[in-house]
Amino acid sequence: MVGALNADLGIRVDRLPAPGETVAGRDVHVLPGGKASNQAVAAARLGGSVRLVGAVGDDENGRMLREHSAAAGVDVSFVAVLPEVPTGQAIIPVDDDGENAIILVPGANGAITPAGIPAEAYVDAAVVCLSLEVPMAVVQRAAARALMAGARVVLNPSPFQPLPPSLLDATDVLIVNELEAGQLLGVPVDLDSGGVEALCSALAPHGITRLVVTRGAAGAVVIDGDEVTQLAATRVDAVDTTGAGDAFTGAVAVGLAEGRSLAEAAAEASVVAAFSATRRGAQPSYPTAAELAEFRAERA
Ligand code: RIB
Ligand code: NA
Repeated sequence: MVGALNADLGIRVDRLPAPGETVAGRDVHVLPGGKASNQAVAAARLGGSVRLVGAVGDDENGRMLREHSAAAGVDVSFVAVLPEVPTGQAIIPVDDDGENAIILVPGANGAITPAGIPAEAYVDAAVVCLSLEVPMAVVQRAAARALMAGARVVLNPSPFQPLPPSLLDATDVLIVNELEAGQLLGVPVDLDSGGVEALCSALAPHGITRLVVTRGAAGAVVIDGDEVTQLAATRVDAVDTTGAGDAFTGAVAVGLAEGRSLAEAAAEASVVAAFSATRRGAQPSYPTAAELAEFRAERA
């Protein structure tokens, strides 16, 4: 997993504030987060062999993040400690329905350079996951290195920004939510009427024939060549959906690395994401394989 590590400052609120409004918050916690770090911990908890590539500052948050990832079994030897920049932070109010809003302060994530990541970081990787909380030049270099190392690239273009054609060319599997799918196409996407076809024809010139569109409580659509699979969501009482998408991506990566089909990997990942929404925070809410089995059994 190549990308960001953030200290998430989670705050419970009755509802998210509107512009100009002040709302009362409670129960403030600093928890490990950031998309790549989340994906890494999600994958490692499920038993994946994971290397995290990114950067933190030389501070308390940076130490907390590295320790938390390492404790989950993630190899953090390619997480650089940069002097003179703080570790990335995310301010995250979460409302009573478990919905959130996020303010990102990139810090060390924004200071990573393409040359700053050694080529050894990609050695032996089956799958390289990329997300967009680090500079685009870093993401592009990572995609190129991943291809050279013979790895498959899984791209989660979040937070969304225009994607260079070369990055799409390097991508094997694209994972987007409905909003990002619309941003990619430049028009809102309606998956129930023509949206799947529109996405496929936009991505075909880049050689992308495998993608997942996540739809929150409405499940997900998996496209693998000509095969389209609708996945139903696992119903849960959401406490905090922060990082549920990263849990999904991390779980898909593990499934693909273990040789499962995209549809099988995504079906498993949607249960992982649902589980994560039942607990507070991002990483602290991710299940181990045993917890996932128990969660399944309770629902069967
Ligand atoms: O995707 C969730 C993550 O987005 C949070 O952990 C936060 O750090 C932001 O990067
Ligand atoms: Na959660």
